[in-house]
Amino acid sequence: MPAGFSTQLAPLLLAWWDQHGRHDLPWQKNPTPYRVWVSEIMLQQTQVATVARYYDTFMQTFPEVQALAAASPDEVLHRWSGLGYYARARNLHRAAQRVRDQHGGVLPTDFEALSALPGIGRSTAGAILALASGQRHPILDGNVKRVLARVFGIAGVPTESAVQRELWTLAERCTPAQRVAHYTQAIMDLGASVCTRGKPACASCPLRDNCVALAAGLTAQLPARKPARARPLRHCVLLLCTRADGAVLLERRADTGIWGGLWGLPEVASVEAVGEWCSAQFGSAPGAQSVRPVFRHGFTHFDLDITPVECRLAHVPLRAMEGDRWLWYNRAAPARVGLAAPVTRLLESLRDRG
Ligand code: ADE
Repeated sequence: MPAGFSTQLAPLLLAWWDQHGRHDLPWQKNPTPYRVWVSEIMLQQTQVATVARYYDTFMQTFPEVQALAAASPDEVLHRWSGLGYYARARNLHRAAQRVRDQHGGVLPTDFEALSALPGIGRSTAGAILALASGQRHPILDGNVKRVLARVFGIAGVPTESAVQRELWTLAERCTPAQRVAHYTQAIMDLGASVCTRGKPACASCPLRDNCVALAAGLTAQLPARKPARARPLRHCVLLLCTRADGAVLLERRADTGIWGGLWGLPEVASVEAVGEWCSAQFGSAPGAQSVRPVFRHGFTHFDLDITPVECRLAHVPLRAMEGDRWLWYNRAAPARVGLAAPVTRLLESLRDRG
């Protein structure tokens, strides 16, 4: 690595970004701290193209932090449907309420206060303050880690704390005093479009003459990957209980866990337990019951094999299944709630079948 390259990186990157970077993303228009915050949370685990499809609708529904804070969790999760990783939406909502209650409705522009809010870590706080307020803070998301690990030839897995520290030090050194908002967008854009994980476009990279990984033929090895752990496989049985009018029974999931706060299908211990479950809930066994083919849903850390069991209920006592925990979901006029992704898939399969 040429001595002091960290101070030369920004000018090269900024010249590239002026010509080749992304300048018309929805959140770049009127980049207030609130608008940038929402976009950064959406972008944490979701690609730019997907976020771009949801962002404007979300912002029309919740144009200010007050509107977001005042909404019900169901409404927020409903508007988040399709973006996945719902813990982000729950944290965003909680943070909005804290901004309303503790910060006078204004997102703090102080790094410590901002990064104390739910869902806002060091990199996200830095990105919000750099992009919306031009404050000089480094960022270190997945894209930036990849760029820095390659350019500076940092071996070791980026999640290890020593490697993480080294990358933060480099991120800090590379961040310029001027044009910090453009620089922040530029380094993320370079990571997303040129310095990609597989097949990086090194010939188009403004940093190619100074890249340790490229010179050493190590772009495929850096950054090092965490040794793959076997992905656990779990199983569950979900009930598609349909009423005579076609409505499907949904149950609100507990607030924590992968489906926290979302509406899902009732879960039973096994296919054999279905009849007993229906008798306990509805006072009679289902009129007809059929086991559908198993399908797999991938989560971040495990796969889930779902066995759907369809139960047609001829007769449901009126008092049964109302209130906060249960919802008869009318597919023709759907309630505005957040649905877990596999539930959406199963409901669509019912619709496709008529
Ligand atoms: N990933 C995270 N933040 C981003 C942003 N502002 N632009 C593009 N990709 C991103």
